[in-house]
Amino acid sequence: MSHYSEATELLYQGTEVRGMDFYKPLVVPYYSTTAFKMQTLEEVRDVATNKFSYVRFTNPNREVLAKTVSFLEQGERSLIYASGMGAITSTLLTLLSAGDELICNSAIYGETFQVMTEILPRFQIKVTMVDFCDNDNVRKAVTPNTKLIYSEVCANPVLKMADVPALAQIAHENGALLMIDNTFTTPLAIKPLTLGADIVINSMTKFMNGHSDAIGGSITSREEIIAKLDQARPLFGTSGDAYAAWTMYKNFGTMDLRVKRQMSNAAKLAAALEKHPLVSKVNHPSLESFPQHELAMRLFRSKEEISGMLSIMLPEDTDLLDRFTTHLHFVHYASTLGGIHTTLMHPVTSSHADVPDDKRRAMGITPGLIRISVGIEDPDDLIQEFTQALDAAK
Ligand SMILES: Cc1ncc(COP(=O)(O)O)c(C=O)c1O
Repeated sequence: MSHYSEATELLYQGTEVRGMDFYKPLVVPYYSTTAFKMQTLEEVRDVATNKFSYVRFTNPNREVLAKTVSFLEQGERSLIYASGMGAITSTLLTLLSAGDELICNSAIYGETFQVMTEILPRFQIKVTMVDFCDNDNVRKAVTPNTKLIYSEVCANPVLKMADVPALAQIAHENGALLMIDNTFTTPLAIKPLTLGADIVINSMTKFMNGHSDAIGGSITSREEIIAKLDQARPLFGTSGDAYAAWTMYKNFGTMDLRVKRQMSNAAKLAAALEKHPLVSKVNHPSLESFPQHELAMRLFRSKEEISGMLSIMLPEDTDLLDRFTTHLHFVHYASTLGGIHTTLMHPVTSSHADVPDDKRRAMGITPGLIRISVGIEDPDDLIQEFTQALDAAK
């Protein structure tokens, strides 16, 4: 299978992993076991490379999922973690040491921001946060100790973009690695490794799983890097749960249908909301008003294949925000994203609650910002749902 479209190949990934024949059951079964039996000492020695032993180290459900992620990201190998945050922290704490420096995009998911500003500095890893909208800011922040540059493709929740090929060049000219979070965009929209990134992380809890029923993260990279992470992961205890891996692999079968619809719905909703008088700004790279629209058109295939996420700027008025959310019928508030149901969230009280106000405002996050995760509903129903709630909130 190498000559079909991505949508078709995605359905048939992972049917064979070492030593396990997944062709007999029509779908991959869940291996509800913490360990596998062995008979001889020779077999015990063989297990490390060729078979499965203990679930914190290896598990067939994680392995089929990892193979599928590697296919999608076009990377050599992937590892499955307990969550997106587990993937991020385990990777940074494995690859960086005291005295190393990291340059991070100042527009970033709130909890990644906390790892950068609260956890890494405790291990004498210096983190410099700069605005990646201008690549010169990154260039200027590089020092001889810079080991890693970190960004999301489209930052949570304002969608500020990273120029992945330019960042890869800056990283490599200076002997550093580029690590990219693809959670908002997914490998269906963009494959950062093919644009020069060295490591890609996905919170698969979000769009990739899409059903809001399992938590997990992935890291994809070349063998030399993955080998180090693979050794450290069981020590951190951040290996993904087998049941979550099974659930995700099952849900991956519809990823192409779901995520493409979500991305196209988001572009349509963004264009419609931009016309509403209560909305002072819509953050979505498909819009011509988006400051990095030109970069988006360079990195993505089309306006409708960027991200199922957008955010809108409403007045900084709590009563008005409450009127808006209470007039929504099928869209609900939820502290997650990427599911097939459209949800919304208020970053100032949720994902970025622990980020200081001045830093939040510098990221473009005001108390009036609402983040919307677009589902697979009919696009006209979605536009109507938001428009009537905004009308009622005025
Ligand atoms: C961009 C981004 N990266 C990483 C994470 C962390 O993922 P998880 O909740 O699976 O740990 C999130 C969670 O919302 C996210 O939005």
